[in-house]
Amino acid sequence: MEETLRVLLVASAFNSLTQRVHTELRARGYEVGVELALGDDLLRARVTHFRPDLILAPMLTTAIPEDVWTEYPVLIVHPGPKGDRGPSSLDWAISTGAQEWGVTVLQAVAEMDAGPIWASMPFAVASCGKSELYRNEVSDAAVAAVLLAVDRFAGGDFEPEPLDYGRPDVRGELRPYHSQRYRMIDWRTEDTASVLRKLRAADSQPGVLDEFYGREYFVHGGHREDRLRGVPGAVIATRDGAICRATADGAVWLPQLRRRRVPGGPRTFKRPAVDALGADLPGNVPEVPVTPAEAAVRDTWSELRYYEQGSVGYLEFAFAGGAMSTEQCRRLLAAYEQACARPVRALVLGPARDFFSNGIHLNVIEAAEDPAEESWRNITAMNDLVEAILTTTDKLVISALAGNAAAGGVMLALAADEVWCRQSAVLNPHYRLMGLYGSEYWTYSLPRRVGSTEAARLTRETLPVGATAAAEIGLVDRVVAGSTTQFREWVRREATLLADSPELENWLTAKKQLREADESAKPLAEYRSEELAHMRRNFFAEGEPYHELRRNFVYNVAPPATPAYLLG
Ligand code: COA
Repeated sequence: MEETLRVLLVASAFNSLTQRVHTELRARGYEVGVELALGDDLLRARVTHFRPDLILAPMLTTAIPEDVWTEYPVLIVHPGPKGDRGPSSLDWAISTGAQEWGVTVLQAVAEMDAGPIWASMPFAVASCGKSELYRNEVSDAAVAAVLLAVDRFAGGDFEPEPLDYGRPDVRGELRPYHSQRYRMIDWRTEDTASVLRKLRAADSQPGVLDEFYGREYFVHGGHREDRLRGVPGAVIATRDGAICRATADGAVWLPQLRRRRVPGGPRTFKRPAVDALGADLPGNVPEVPVTPAEAAVRDTWSELRYYEQGSVGYLEFAFAGGAMSTEQCRRLLAAYEQACARPVRALVLGPARDFFSNGIHLNVIEAAEDPAEESWRNITAMNDLVEAILTTTDKLVISALAGNAAAGGVMLALAADEVWCRQSAVLNPHYRLMGLYGSEYWTYSLPRRVGSTEAARLTRETLPVGATAAAEIGLVDRVVAGSTTQFREWVRREATLLADSPELENWLTAKKQLREADESAKPLAEYRSEELAHMRRNFFAEGEPYHELRRNFVYNVAPPATPAYLLG
């Protein structure tokens, strides 16, 4: 075997887990290439060219051709415990209420998921949607299992364990595809717990097929409501674009819907539920708001929560898919301004789990009558929010990233004084893949953290950066390993220490002086207008790639071949 292991990642998409495995293997010095599974011949050609020592499939929905797995060792990541087989593992785990689940790394053989086992890791199933579970607990277990399997492979003398249902630790089973037949909700008879299990098992994809006002929709997401009640099945309230629907014993919030495509009709995509229903939603359904402070002490759906502990205020925001529309940016800005008016010494920004932010809301933009205008409104609202953070000089502001961030979402985080990351987080500090120059004051924030050479490299290479690598280049300040709960506890401890430190006043004075010095060297308004001049072109000029790239993203169109930046 060569000294440096050459690993080819084969994946259906360069998704969060594949990105994470990519960053982890590169950090260990392996040579890593990526090939998207877009056809057997393309894969064969790439394998011949790349000559991997090992092929690893972190997320693959198709089979690797036999001539490839007979010639090369191929390890597949399967999101289930030993013995679990089938295409809908997590759907079954969530819908059957499993408390513990696992991730297993198997060698590819003719029979799907039945190959010898290289590693398997258990994890506790959190009460959340499938995609959120996937990006958090599943990802952490998968990375641990992958690293163990790769170590074992590199060691050269490990004998993988044949799948044997006679062994006591092989408790999984072969399960069928989790079709809509299993997902159907009977709103008149099913209680909230049962409804939530079904919604979570289908979130974010494929959603639960359901009916509203005589039309079919896929429901995406779901959260318990603690107070509102109504006739089972009735839509009883709206809040910030979501709808609340009564169950047999309570009610749940449904944030997003996707209209079912009618045969021969236009393709559809996920939208805020109120927008998707449009004029079908009766005018007498009341908007029932909740303040971020109320939301923090209730069990209801809210994208914003605010609470204080000692001298620290915590503003938690959680937007589906990390996407932030114009309205969401404005609501977050209003909550941020309220938090700033509180007598706290430090503010911590970020959701307790999952995506920090992925920037402007490409689906809402796609659905707008004039997507270019809506892009403009959205980036303006995002910039207003970022500006408010950059110009807060009387408090310490900390961005706490329990999960991933991309594009403008990374730059939003960088506007704070301190950026703290869970080690599992993956950052994509670039916009080019969406055909955008970028804004959110990135031309100020990024070079001030990493220097202009590194900033240019990050934006040119457009590769994901793991949290540890991000700390090494100064993109983030502190990184800790552990679960989202452990991360949160650590953030609270450290934020309290800083906020209560006698040094804070001096530090705030220095921060103010630095902001003033930076402002006289080049005003923030100038960074903004320069960036927006580029963005205006991206949004409004002829021949710019943004609109097509956005459409492909929203409709999930696969590229014709693996993009050049992934070839390694
Ligand atoms: N607008 C709308 N939806 C977004 C979004 C955005 N900016 N970013 C992510 N999403 C959605 C995805 O469509 C996906 O929806 P699904 O679960 O229904 O499939 C979900 O959020 C999760 O994203 P996904 O791409 O599956 O996650 P990932 O971790 O594999 O990849 C990113 C994350 C950030 C690399 C990828 O989502 C991305 O490139 N997003 C766009 C970033 C961007 O260009 N923003 C605009 C410029 S500021």
